[in-house]
Amino acid sequence: MGAKIGVIKGDGIGPEVVNEALKVLDRAGEIYGFSCDYTDILMGGCSIDATGVPLTDEAIETAKAQDAVLMGSIGGNTQTSPWYKLPPDRRPEAGLLKLRKSLGLFANLRPARLYDELREACPLKEKTATAGFDLVMVRELTGGLYFGHRETKVVEGKRTAIDTLTYNEDEIRRVAIKAFDIAMKRKKSVICVDKANVLDSSRLWREVVSEVAKDYPDVTLSFMLVDNCAMQLVKCPSQFDVVLTENMFGDILSDEASMISGSLGMLSSASLNETKFGLYEPSGGSAPDIAGKGIANPIATILSAAMLLRYSLDKDAAADAIEAAVQEALKSGARTADLIPDEKRRTANIRCLNTSEMGDLIASLIK
Ligand code: IPM
Ligand code: MG
Repeated sequence: MGAKIGVIKGDGIGPEVVNEALKVLDRAGEIYGFSCDYTDILMGGCSIDATGVPLTDEAIETAKAQDAVLMGSIGGNTQTSPWYKLPPDRRPEAGLLKLRKSLGLFANLRPARLYDELREACPLKEKTATAGFDLVMVRELTGGLYFGHRETKVVEGKRTAIDTLTYNEDEIRRVAIKAFDIAMKRKKSVICVDKANVLDSSRLWREVVSEVAKDYPDVTLSFMLVDNCAMQLVKCPSQFDVVLTENMFGDILSDEASMISGSLGMLSSASLNETKFGLYEPSGGSAPDIAGKGIANPIATILSAAMLLRYSLDKDAAADAIEAAVQEALKSGARTADLIPDEKRRTANIRCLNTSEMGDLIASLIK
């Protein structure tokens, strides 16, 4: 029997990019001697259309019964899609938040690195791009502003909205431990990003993270304010190894980290709980503007499938092979449209592939 993989294709470019990742997973399975049994799970706008809600209880149960879940993306154009006329807790994103919470996926790993081959697509200064970078963002995923008390009401005659940011020490500790464990396998540096000059929650993060650090004497811990971090990411990204941060800051900084890698279409992610189970998804959105055109970049989803093999199925060799195949494809000059920079920075061997050509090429390069 194969590994049980739930598949959430979702909305927008989701189905297109997931199909390529499944192609690559199957090819890796042929070579490395494993198989996957896929079960489709509805979530997001497509679930609203089919069932009236973004995630049904059955869908949650199905997800729980899998070894891992691979996801594309959910949601649509927030200005024009009818999904966004629904109350907030019935919109596509509510499904994703509910799934993360129901499965206890508190640790969101978002690696961002600059492939040598993509230097010309990197928007940073040439000198900075040449220095390269290879970091992993560890974002807390089931607490903070995303899950605090929320309310809109009239206070003293004025429309007033309230969002609360709450963390307890256990929520901070468990994600900090993940970050330090990851740092031990990397360059042994953790930078904890917060707003400790303003927020109580950030000051608690500093205390608890410092306590966790005592169990990791080989890891260097430092703290950085989030506004400074946003600036340092474009100024000198090579200084980062593991970036540990709370939910909202991690959401924002991970988009920034992906863009300096050349494109949002390159950034994979894993959302983990205390077990081997994980939800794997590209960090980018559903890109409704290019959905159905077959031009989306499937690499983030393919790299997410590699993370699935590594973290949930312990198939490190197959994961390495997929990552190497991605690099080979880039080296050969293959690019999706999002990775092709302005004419003047473009080199001769670059060729533009569509979504499925990129998937085919990467699958064929797995050794
Ligand atoms: C992400 C996304 C989600 C988030 C949205 C779709 C709710 O932006 O995974 O980064 O904010 O967590
Ligand atoms: Mg985001």
